[in-house]
Amino acid sequence: MIHIAKPFLGDEEKEAVLSVLSSGMIASGDKVLEFEKAFSSYIGLKECIACSSGTTALELALRALGIGPGDKVLTTSYSFIASTNCIIYVGATPVFTDIDPDSFLMSPENIRKALEKHPDIKAVLVVHLFGQACDMEEVQAIAKEKGLLLIEDCAQSHGALYKGKKSGSFGDASCFSFYPTKNMTTSEGGAVLFKDKEVADKCRMLVNHGMKKRYCHEIIGYNYRMTNIAAAIGLEQLKKLPAFNAKRQKNAAWLSGHISNPFIKLPKINSNCEHVFHQYTVKAQGRGSFIRHLEANGVGYGIFYPMSIPEQGCYKHLGFETNYPVADEIKKQVVSLPTHPMLTDGELETIAQVVNSFFE
Ligand SMILES: Cc1ncc(COP(=O)(O)O)c(C=O)c1O
Repeated sequence: MIHIAKPFLGDEEKEAVLSVLSSGMIASGDKVLEFEKAFSSYIGLKECIACSSGTTALELALRALGIGPGDKVLTTSYSFIASTNCIIYVGATPVFTDIDPDSFLMSPENIRKALEKHPDIKAVLVVHLFGQACDMEEVQAIAKEKGLLLIEDCAQSHGALYKGKKSGSFGDASCFSFYPTKNMTTSEGGAVLFKDKEVADKCRMLVNHGMKKRYCHEIIGYNYRMTNIAAAIGLEQLKKLPAFNAKRQKNAAWLSGHISNPFIKLPKINSNCEHVFHQYTVKAQGRGSFIRHLEANGVGYGIFYPMSIPEQGCYKHLGFETNYPVADEIKKQVVSLPTHPMLTDGELETIAQVVNSFFE
C-alpha cells in the first residue's frame, strides 16, 4: 500500500526528544522559546507564539485581534473545518465565499462580491489550501482599502511562496499546524505569528492562562501551550523543511509529467506561486470508479473534502447559506494522490501507471 501521508522522524528528532526527557523539563520551557525564534525567523516575522495545535493557533489569533460576538469573519466554504469552528468558538459569525475551480482557493473576486453583500465584515480569514498561497497582493489590497483585519491559515502551506514572499508573512496574524501529516510536524502542535507586538503580547498571555507574572491572571486565558518535547521535534523538522518541500515539488512535477489520462485533471499552479504540494489534488471524472481502482491497486488517496464547510451537520442549527456552486461541484471530483517526501521512485511510477490505466 502506498500511503497518502508518511511523516519522517529521523535519529535527530529521536535524540532531541530523548534529550528533553533526560532534562526533566518536559512541559513548556526553553525549547519552546527556541522553536518560536527559529520558526519566526523562517517566516520572517518577529512575533511567534507556539501552541498546542493549528486549531488553537487560529482561535488565539482571533482572540488576540479582538474578534468576538457581533463580528463577521469572511472565510472559505471549502477547507478543513477548523478555521470556521474557531470563528464560532470566539462568538463571531462566519460568512463564506465560493472558491476558484482550478486552484480551490478563495479568490479576490469572490471576496469583493461577499464584501458588497456584507459591508460590515470585520476580518478576512484566508486558507492557503493544499500548499498553494491565495492571491495575497490583491487580498492585502482589499483588506487595506476596506480596513479589514487579515488572518492567514497556513496549516497546509509551510514555506509556500507568493511573489517570492512566504505564506504567513502577509496578514495581521498567520496560523500554522504541525500535525503529523503536514509538511513539517511537532506531533500535535501549532504556531501563530503577528506583526504587532502588543497583539502578540496579548496572545502570550492568552496561551498561558492570562498570566504575565506567575499566578497573576490579568485576563481569562487558556492552556494552549506547546510542550518542550513537541518543540524539540519541531526544531529538527524545521531544518529539514526546505528539503521536504523540494522533494514534494519534485514528486508533484514528476507525476504531472507522467500522468496522462483524459479522465484526470492535474493540479494547477498559479502564476506568482511556489506551491509546496501539501496535497497533490486532481479532479477525477467518475470519481467513484477511480477511487475503487486506486484501492484495488494499492494506491492510497484522500478526499479533501467530501462536503463544503457550511453544509456540515454540526452547523445545521446555525442555518448557513449552503449554495456554493463551485465548491459543490469540486467536492464531487477531488482526489488527493500521494506526493509526500518519503515516496520512492518505484512508488511514483506505480502511482502514475495506476492512474493512467483508469478509464471510466
Ligand atoms: C487548513 C487547516 N486549518 C487548520 C487545521 C487545524 O490544525 P490542527 O489539526 O493542528 O488543529 C488544519 C489541520 O488539518 C488544516 O488543514
